[in-house]
Parts: sequence; C-alpha cells; structure tokens
Amino acid sequence: MLSYNEALDLLNRYGKNASWVQHCLAVSRLAAYFSETFAVKYALDPDFIRCAALLHDIGRYKTHHPVLHGVEGYKLLVDLGYPKEAFICASHVFLNSEEALSYGLPKRDFLPFSFEEKLIPLVDFLVEHDRPTSLEERFKSLRERHNGNKDFLTRIEPIEFKTRAFMHQLNREFNLSVEEIARKFCSSGLTK
Ligand SMILES: [Fe+2]
Repeated sequence: MLSYNEALDLLNRYGKNASWVQHCLAVSRLAAYFSETFAVKYALDPDFIRCAALLHDIGRYKTHHPVLHGVEGYKLLVDLGYPKEAFICASHVFLNSEEALSYGLPKRDFLPFSFEEKLIPLVDFLVEHDRPTSLEERFKSLRERHNGNKDFLTRIEPIEFKTRAFMHQLNREFNLSVEEIARKFCSSGLTK
C-alpha cells in the first residue's frame, strides 16, 4: 500500500507548486481527523483515507474539467499501480457506468459505495480551496462557478443530494455536526 510520504511525493511531483495542492493537503488532514472519529463504529483504514484524500484531485495536473480531472487521476494512479486510490479519484466525481465508458474507463459505476469512498467527497465538499465551508455554501459556489454549464448543473443535483444524505446520517449516528467539527478543526490551520 502507498505510504503517506509516497503519496505526498506523488502530489508534489504532479502538482508542483499549483494552488490545488493546498486543497489536497487540507482535505487529507480533515479526512484523517474524521476517520479517527468514525473508526469507533466503522471498520475504516485511516492511513488509506489520508493518502487517498491527498491524491483525490491529482488529475488536476492535466485538467481542471469538473469530471475529467477525476478520470485523469484514475488513469494516472492505475498506471502507477494504485487501483484503490485510483478508484477514489474517479468516484469523487460520481461516474455512472455509461459516463465511465464514454470517458474511456471500464464500463462500471465509479460511485462512492464504501464508507471511505463516501467520506472523501464529503470532506472535499466541506473544504473550499483550503478553508472550511458548509455544503450549502460550497454547492452555491460550484453552481456560480459553472453558471451556464447545463450538463454540470444537472449532474450536481443528485451529487448534492447523496452528499447531504451521508452527512445527515453521520450527524445522527454520532450525535454531532460534521460541518461544525470541520469549522473548529480548520480554525487551527488545515495545511500546516
Ligand atoms: Fe475534485
């Protein structure tokens, strides 16, 4: 399995000094923090979550397209021999089997199924660049950024629905507010 230092080397090699690297560091730190909390009830691998979260956006070395960066990240990590982390890249952009095929991936759903696969996109949506945000604000900002892109706007609706449902499930099961924890944790600085 990929170690954290190996994942960090990959991120730095492909991300160079791009600003999205800061986002990846922030998502990884927050996801690792949450995984410790949720591991009380779910069989999670905090090391995997930390590494996969670090690499979820690595496809941005090639494109910032809202879907293709997930596809490119998947292809890169599969080529490098890291299929589990690769799946996170593809599933964090929520690809169904038809979409996967049209982007040159195997015809199968690349959707978050496991707890780990669901946690990373949730944390991704709770971090705007390297700052904490709410799902409300993040989806509003995404819609503004892609204003006029009908395909994106149609696609984002079920993604928002599923992400909100997962967050509410966690809030209920653990009797906490995921958004509030993210805010408090982030106030100490996410990329340090
Ligand atoms: Fe992404």
